Amino acid sequence: MRALSSLVVLVATVAACGGGGEASSDSAPATSAGDAAVASTSGSFDPATITPAMVAQGDSLFHGLIGATSCQACHGADGAQATVAPNLTDGEWLHSDGSWEGIHKTVVAGVMAPKQFTSIMPPYGGIPMTEEHTRAVTAYVYKLSHP
Ligand code: HEC
Repeated sequence: MRALSSLVVLVATVAACGGGGEASSDSAPATSAGDAAVASTSGSFDPATITPAMVAQGDSLFHGLIGATSCQACHGADGAQATVAPNLTDGEWLHSDGSWEGIHKTVVAGVMAPKQFTSIMPPYGGIPMTEEHTRAVTAYVYKLSHP
């Protein structure tokens, strides 16, 4: 029994140490962790860090293959349909400067006051998404217009 309990302690110690740098930022006080999450959603993002995996995930989200929202239902399979919702590939932006942050903001907030079309866009296109999914679909849309 003694051997077992010291093994448990050892495993717990290794796990704690293994967490290292990440654990220290994750374990920030709850209040500032919340602030950090807000800052990271609205703060700056370097589009150069977009990975092919992120774009592939965003592609699946845009087309409703994963998650519950299908952006293509309104924006078209190629993002350029422009019959009920704007063309996302032409580099012309109604609701932001077309930066990664601007697109991200539109996806999160939706468009309650459309400028050219009659429909609104609900937040996240309809069904709330995780921040990971939001970032992936934003990366996909960003890449449509910034090849
Ligand atoms: C119900 C239809 C609908 C769905 C679903 C939808 N959108 Fe939209 N989207 C719109 C409309 C309508 C607008 C704004 C039209 C206007 O201003 O006249 C818009 C605007 C946008 C814009 C801003 C374009 C600009 O010119 O600034 C982005 C970016 C965008 N949508 C991305 C997405 C993404 C990503 C998804 C899926 C997560 C999505 N949309 C799902 C209807 C939709």
